[in-house]
Amino acid sequence: MTAASAEATAPTAADLAGRRVRVKVPATSANLGPGFDTLGLALARYDELEVEVVDDGLAIEVEGVGRGEVPLDESHLVVRAIAHTFAHFGLERPPLRLVARNAIPHGRGLGSSGAAIVAGIMAAKGLLEPEIEISPDELLELATELEGHPDNVAPALFGGLTIAWVTPEGPRHKKLMVHRGVSPLVLVPEHEMSTALARSLQPTSVPHEDAVFNVSRSALLVAALIQSPELLLAATEDKLHQRYRAEAMPETDRLIRALRAAGHPAVVSGAGPSILVLASDPSERADAIRLVEESAQTAWQALPLAVDFLGATVQAVDAD
Ligand code: HSE
Repeated sequence: MTAASAEATAPTAADLAGRRVRVKVPATSANLGPGFDTLGLALARYDELEVEVVDDGLAIEVEGVGRGEVPLDESHLVVRAIAHTFAHFGLERPPLRLVARNAIPHGRGLGSSGAAIVAGIMAAKGLLEPEIEISPDELLELATELEGHPDNVAPALFGGLTIAWVTPEGPRHKKLMVHRGVSPLVLVPEHEMSTALARSLQPTSVPHEDAVFNVSRSALLVAALIQSPELLLAATEDKLHQRYRAEAMPETDRLIRALRAAGHPAVVSGAGPSILVLASDPSERADAIRLVEESAQTAWQALPLAVDFLGATVQAVDAD
């Protein structure tokens, strides 16, 4: 993206002084089986962030997930996203105080890095308004520049089910509402999985028939999620990514096979190692949880989560 020419309307340091915003960003599950790097679903579990422009320095406080683990300096992903957004408008990041309250598990395929990026971009949006308005396409483009692919950041920004695609002009998205019968269940293991490792296991090309297989299942999946949940088992089949990554997460692979054999539409959530079950009603979720409790060799946390339909929000907060 080229630097926007917003000098005429950019807020001054005096405008920014004391501005304070509160941001809320949902967890996400990407791919959803066949929709590699394309489909994503926002889930009702949230990272929250408060950002205030202060006189000098950078103070970061982290509560919940990541406390004692994530860096507390310029390299903090939220700070990088704020700086990236300010730089896009030709502005330097102002001195800040951040408080992050995180509930999205890290390294589990639930979009925590996408959520951090979106949180930073939405915080910058809130701080820069009203002088600068950022369009939905610009928000997605800024987020995709940092994340590398749009399938997690699109649902984190806009909520619901999102189809994301990349054009020469930048990434674009279509948001869809999900059928009210769809009851997502996320199963989270104790161990993490690196997205970079998962992506390194992808082949550079795939057989044409596998590509056709995924085209049909992805198209069907959109219909199943918005209109026909009874088709979710057939619609969540995939030949583009899960088989190549299975060796790096054997228990995830084994449990997904067991869940699918029992009729549950289970897929790897994002790059893994969590499992997403797109159940059709709450009782199906209970059956899937029971199956995993009986078959798993390590500890798995079951999170029955609603679909988030709002996406990321930002609101101005009055200074104390
Ligand atoms: N589509 C991405 C992948 C999601 O599977 O690699 C994780 O960022």
